[in-house]
Amino acid sequence: MATENATATSTSQITREETTQLRRVSADLPPTPPESEHSDAEKGEATKPSDYPLPPDSKAPTEVIEVDKKTPDGWLPRDPRLIRLTGVHPFNVEAPLTDLFNEGFLTSPELFYVRNHGAVPQVQDEEIPDWEFSIEGLVENPITLTLKDLIAGYPQITCPITLVCAGNRRKEQNVVRKTKGFSWGAAGVSTALWTGTMMQELLKVAKPKRGARYVCMEGADKLPNGYYGTSVKLNWAMDPNRGMMLAHKMNGEMLRPDHGKPLRAVIPGQIGGRSVKWLKKLIITDKPSDNWYHIYDNRVLPTSVSPEESANNQAWWMDERYAIFDLSCNSAIAYPAHEEQLCLVGAPEFYRAKGYAYGGGGRRITRVEVTLDKGKTWRLANIDYAEDRYREAAGTELFGGTIDMEWREASFCWCFWNIDIPLAELRDAKDIFVRCMDESMTIQPRDMYWSVLGMMNNPWFRVTISLEKDYLRFEHPTQPALIPGGWMERVKAAGGNLANGYWGEKIGSEDAEGPVEEVAKEIKMTKDGLNTTITIDDLRKHDKEDQPWFVVNGEVYDGTKFLEGHPGGAQSIVSAAGLDATDEFMAIHSETAKAMMPTYHIGSLDEEGKKALSGEDVQPDPSAAPTPTFLDSRNWKKAILHSKTTVSWDTRIFTFKLEHDAQTVGLPTGQHLMIRLRDPVTREAIIRSYTPISETSKPGYMDVLVKIYFDSAERKGGKMSQAMDSLPIGHFVDFKGPIGKFEYLGNGLCSVNGAKRNVKHFVMICGGSGITPIYQVFRAVMQDRQDPTRCTLLDGNRLVEDILVKEELDAFARDNEERCKLLYTLTKAPEEWDGLRGRIAGPLLAEHASKEVLGTEKGEAMVLICGPEALEKACHKALLENGWSDEELLFF
Ligand code: MTE
Repeated sequence: MATENATATSTSQITREETTQLRRVSADLPPTPPESEHSDAEKGEATKPSDYPLPPDSKAPTEVIEVDKKTPDGWLPRDPRLIRLTGVHPFNVEAPLTDLFNEGFLTSPELFYVRNHGAVPQVQDEEIPDWEFSIEGLVENPITLTLKDLIAGYPQITCPITLVCAGNRRKEQNVVRKTKGFSWGAAGVSTALWTGTMMQELLKVAKPKRGARYVCMEGADKLPNGYYGTSVKLNWAMDPNRGMMLAHKMNGEMLRPDHGKPLRAVIPGQIGGRSVKWLKKLIITDKPSDNWYHIYDNRVLPTSVSPEESANNQAWWMDERYAIFDLSCNSAIAYPAHEEQLCLVGAPEFYRAKGYAYGGGGRRITRVEVTLDKGKTWRLANIDYAEDRYREAAGTELFGGTIDMEWREASFCWCFWNIDIPLAELRDAKDIFVRCMDESMTIQPRDMYWSVLGMMNNPWFRVTISLEKDYLRFEHPTQPALIPGGWMERVKAAGGNLANGYWGEKIGSEDAEGPVEEVAKEIKMTKDGLNTTITIDDLRKHDKEDQPWFVVNGEVYDGTKFLEGHPGGAQSIVSAAGLDATDEFMAIHSETAKAMMPTYHIGSLDEEGKKALSGEDVQPDPSAAPTPTFLDSRNWKKAILHSKTTVSWDTRIFTFKLEHDAQTVGLPTGQHLMIRLRDPVTREAIIRSYTPISETSKPGYMDVLVKIYFDSAERKGGKMSQAMDSLPIGHFVDFKGPIGKFEYLGNGLCSVNGAKRNVKHFVMICGGSGITPIYQVFRAVMQDRQDPTRCTLLDGNRLVEDILVKEELDAFARDNEERCKLLYTLTKAPEEWDGLRGRIAGPLLAEHASKEVLGTEKGEAMVLICGPEALEKACHKALLENGWSDEELLFF
């Protein structure tokens, strides 16, 4: 059923209870100038007959939500209604659109959207007055002042301003084609009354020098790429019409931690990303900010720039023309709500459709239009600009600041629109669209402008209508985050091409040609008839190597009997003991491995246990002492992508920066590590094993060689390698390990699943990027002149240029002729090639790797094999035929 109109509280309706509440809130605040203490609104007497809306009822959350407890924000109570867009942490949330709209013009701080790049800086109430910040750089008078000084020494204003995340409505872009951003619905927008100082007042005192052009801002939140920061133009900051301010209150109370407590910039009319929270510095410069977040965030790159191109060509990011400042005009429908049902029996003659619209750069929305026939005809909606009622309240004191807006032409807030639609017309329509236009006659576009970060999405907002028996059912385009639903997903799943210019509908020959996603085969991993329930305490008792239990999809498995046989080595089972291993297990195991799981299934984790395990990874404690080695076999650790070297058209070396300069990776020779990336849209984990090619003793950095399997017309490429290729420099990636059953200890001594063994001769067989684990062992043997072990290395590739680390291999072979035989074979060899030709299979192995040819006795040699599944299978068969036994073979 259609829900009632949003209700607004107005000054003329202040109740005694609200007055007391306002007094209480203000008593909690740091000292304010004397005049504010006699604020008319606080006394419940508005001096003017204006009825500007006051904030809705608000209750600061008092409980820390369970899932937050394990994160660095574990001290911060939040509202459970907020929808999390990036898992548990960092906190990026929007309210359900209907709840947001129902609050009215002003949003309560607990439902106000949040965009945090990292952990929230913790500031105690008693520290607020002494919060220091500086104005520095190209100024005559650099200033450092406290919040107390700012409030006491500068005029304070209060005004309503809407903030909008540049990613608002991004989910729609992500459904069309995945962008690099997470999925905001249409509630990445909120409005509050902000109290503080105009930025211009401070800049006038600091006196920018000649040549100064930008105001760079920096927050106190330390992130993987430094403190969050960005810049705006100095002449905007000096212009009172632009309304830029430093705010310490939101809706009359001190800022809440998620919104920048105790001080933030509020940059009206521009994307939220410019309104720096937890503000520490204003730096006046002659160039735009060089902060990582200014460069690699908040940009609309040309639509032709793919994720790969944007990752490989830094020039796109450096081009300031693509940075976003002013918002573009945008609108959305709140009613009909998503999945709203309008009963046709006994319904009123008209249905009131409602929603919001906003413009950018202070430009006012001058019309909002609605169509029921896909844009052939439009009807004008009514617009309510509540912001204007504050203009009428000029001179009024509110929350310790003066309302001073009557002179300002700019419109910095959202407006609400509504239109009454005859029920009969609504019943006959297939959809309802809204679009708005601003005072520069810029209108929302009909079609989406897709771009790599998915920002500023503002095509006409469409709600579909379906007639079901005696009611109408409405569907919004999407639902935020991973929440399923919306006509876009439905149309796409049915094979509609959302980019066909007709919202994916089949129109004549425009029939959808969009790909239909392959549905993954479900494999049963539980034991029939097993009804055992296992508690978290039971699980935690089995978190050691003697009886490792682990959880996959809420089911508990006992890995004890598989410790020896596990192809990934016992360590990887032990590492998962007592933990939820769902992500890793599902990502790296084959269907065959999954089909084996019922044998090890011992019960289901109870609901409480599931809840206890449901938090994201435990975040490292930033104050913990640095560890000498990087890897941790039980926890994911983050390393930042430092640089990327293109080795060939499809091969890159990714260099990751470890946690400190003296740290080494902590990977035994011959073992590997897991790399985890998250799909930016589905947040699904993509996990693969890799072996770095850098020396395990290299301090500060590690190099990982990756062959990129690109999508082609015939075949889908590699999910992981393509995601790696799209990573921008400075982005972090998760690592866990070591894993693997084999380790080379030196001087011919190996360990296989913990059992020691001496080897005189390694036969190493690999294909393509299978060289990487082999290379670690080969290098360890060759680098040690005292190591008597011999190596025969057979490396198969397609083309000469596909041979990875060839120079290094050749150099080792040259320097160790007596111990080393290096053989390359190519399937597409050029004429002049003097190496071997053909695949690594029976004949080639018989000629170069049979026991007889190599002259090794039983137990003296070991064959290490790594390559694609087909190569490994072919080798297995051929090696057994050529005198080897299974115990002598080791598949990585
Ligand atoms: N300031 C700091 N210091 N750190 C941040 O992560 N996020 C920015 C901006 N200011 C951010 C920040 C972004 S992208 C947005 S959209 C707004 O804060 C969101 O403000 P809110 O969380 O109060 O809604």
